[in-house]
Amino acid sequence: MPSELPASALYSSPALGRLWKKVHQACSPFLHRPAVRRLYQRPTSVLRKTLAGPYSLIALGCAEGTKEALLLLGMPKPAFLLTADTNLSLARRAARHLPARKKAFRNIDLSRPFPAFQFPTATARIFTLFGVLPNLEPVPLLCRIARLMKSGDWLLFSANLAPGKSGFAGARKVLSQYNNLPTRRWLEASVRRYRPKLPPGGLEFGVHPDPREKTLARIEARWIAHPKTWIIFSSRRPTMAQVESWIRIAHLKKTARFLEPRGEEGLWLVGPAPSRSPPSHPD
Ligand SMILES: C[S@@+](CC[C@H](N)C(=O)[O-])C[C@H]1O[C@@H](n2cnc3c(N)ncnc32)[C@H](O)[C@@H]1O
Repeated sequence: MPSELPASALYSSPALGRLWKKVHQACSPFLHRPAVRRLYQRPTSVLRKTLAGPYSLIALGCAEGTKEALLLLGMPKPAFLLTADTNLSLARRAARHLPARKKAFRNIDLSRPFPAFQFPTATARIFTLFGVLPNLEPVPLLCRIARLMKSGDWLLFSANLAPGKSGFAGARKVLSQYNNLPTRRWLEASVRRYRPKLPPGGLEFGVHPDPREKTLARIEARWIAHPKTWIIFSSRRPTMAQVESWIRIAHLKKTARFLEPRGEEGLWLVGPAPSRSPPSHPD
């Protein structure tokens, strides 16, 4: 198995951050396709019907909270807002511009067991998790969130999908969203900056099995420097069926699913499964 660079290597300097932003501006379906933006407003009617009183919004891996802002356009103002991201300045920015009666922001590492900081418990809670599952281990993360949830809480999460029934064929259809000039510039700059230095080589994009779930398709950018290969970037592209199997493994229960018309991105609204024993996936 090739060595894998940590995801942080792609964002480790302001210059890399600027190159990533160019990729986002040039390639993000969220910015270029109104149907994808509308997706983030569709759960509001279900949520409004089920919330009986005040609620808290806990925005996990929220960056600047752009998607949460769209969701909240159709919702009453949360009684409490907690924004949590590995990047504290992004969490602060999200807390500043999202509406709520009371607010807090935190640094969090979603790839590890959650620290003992208090999530609010007095109200029903909506956890959001947008754009995070492609890059973090999905099942352990969903299990960690499920263990926090009580009856009346919701988790609304997004997944970038492989459209169609076959994950590998579906992922190949969206490969051009990654194999393009701005993405190459960003990843090649990350390779140049990485220490210990990588040998001269070339970037190759492809679809590979996820190392931990062989039937799950992963888009990878690999640095080929014979005889060694490094994985520079990866993004999981599950089918809908695979996402729904993760939901069951985490002992969550699906209430609604929303898909954008091309089937490349979906939102799932889930709650704790009734009479469940807490999921015990090892962290
Ligand atoms: C692809 S961005 C998605 C941002 C935003 N939710 C959206 O959908 O536009 C992934 C976000 O997750 C955050 N992130 C990455 N790894 C994380 C981790 N281990 N713990 C917490 N946040 C993380 C990043 O800082 C970034 O804000």
